[in-house]
Amino acid sequence: MIDKHEILEKIKNAITTSDLENIKVEVLGKNGCLTQSLKELGKLSPDERKVKGAELNLIKDEIICALDEKKSILELSEINAKLESEKIDISLNKSEKNKGYIHPLSKVKEELVQIFASLGFNLSSGPDIEDDFHNFTALNVPEYHPARSMQDTFFIEGGNLLRTQTSSVQVRTMEKVGAPVKIITMGRTYRSDWDATHSPVFHQIEGLYVDKDITMGHLKGCLIDFLKVFFETDEIPMQFRPSYFPFTEPSAEIDIRCSFENGELKIGPNGNRWLEIGGCGMVHPNVLKASGINPDEYQGFAFGLGIERLTMLKYGIPDMRKCFESDIRWLSNYGFEADDIPNIITGLTAK
Ligand code: DAH
Repeated sequence: MIDKHEILEKIKNAITTSDLENIKVEVLGKNGCLTQSLKELGKLSPDERKVKGAELNLIKDEIICALDEKKSILELSEINAKLESEKIDISLNKSEKNKGYIHPLSKVKEELVQIFASLGFNLSSGPDIEDDFHNFTALNVPEYHPARSMQDTFFIEGGNLLRTQTSSVQVRTMEKVGAPVKIITMGRTYRSDWDATHSPVFHQIEGLYVDKDITMGHLKGCLIDFLKVFFETDEIPMQFRPSYFPFTEPSAEIDIRCSFENGELKIGPNGNRWLEIGGCGMVHPNVLKASGINPDEYQGFAFGLGIERLTMLKYGIPDMRKCFESDIRWLSNYGFEADDIPNIITGLTAK
């Protein structure tokens, strides 16, 4: 006797597709119970066969239908389980080994752009390979002028040179946008120098503000405000020291009080020396003239600061040359995680 309910119950309780396959064989296989019953129909009288045959075929249809239905349910859940178990977890943390760091100079460059942008300066740029006019002549340093020897220049064949100062970008920007103009520029500069506070390649930030009523007071206020924000203190141990630059009159150098002791560089009023961070002054009328601006109408201030010196003072780096050695141990000590860097300001252009 076929127990339809028992078979349907088994199908319902099957857990895997192979359970289902076994049930199918047990019932509908060559020796399956339903197959046997169908075979035995031949032993019945024609009338009995007709009734019993119809009944068995109905049961067979019902079982096949239940098997198919359950099969598609089990197949789906088996595929899902497989997908779940074979999933690749891409959220895993990457290994800490060989982690890169942001160079302190890169961090400081970002800080500088942020601070000067907040003081209303736009960002300008110029080439590293310069011509004599923009690096010297237009900056009031004519050929054979003794001021040329203030900077040990790398000359290149064909009369060009590696720029010794970002002041060249002052001229290029004024030629391009005229006055008024309020810009900073940052980049590499090159001089034949090599010791703990000098490197043949170094970086400068140059500022230029030309307008109708600009005074030395604006220059001092701007630089003092900048230093307070940059060094994160209201008590900046600094001095403006009267100096000479051909492209400014009057001119000053900016010094920060600090000490180099036991291989450490520290900024503070009790330091034992001054470290010069750059020069500044009121733009010389000859520079305005050479850049196409009328000095009777406009005047301005300019400054040029060494980015390595600022970085050394802020982050206590005693030897500038290490900034250029790409030593992983040094970088992991003085470098920064990417999250420490503020958002990069892009798209600032002259004027
Ligand atoms: N260009 C000078 C240097 O590299 C620094 C400097 C001094 C820049 C005075 C200026 C300035 O813009 O006004 O030594």
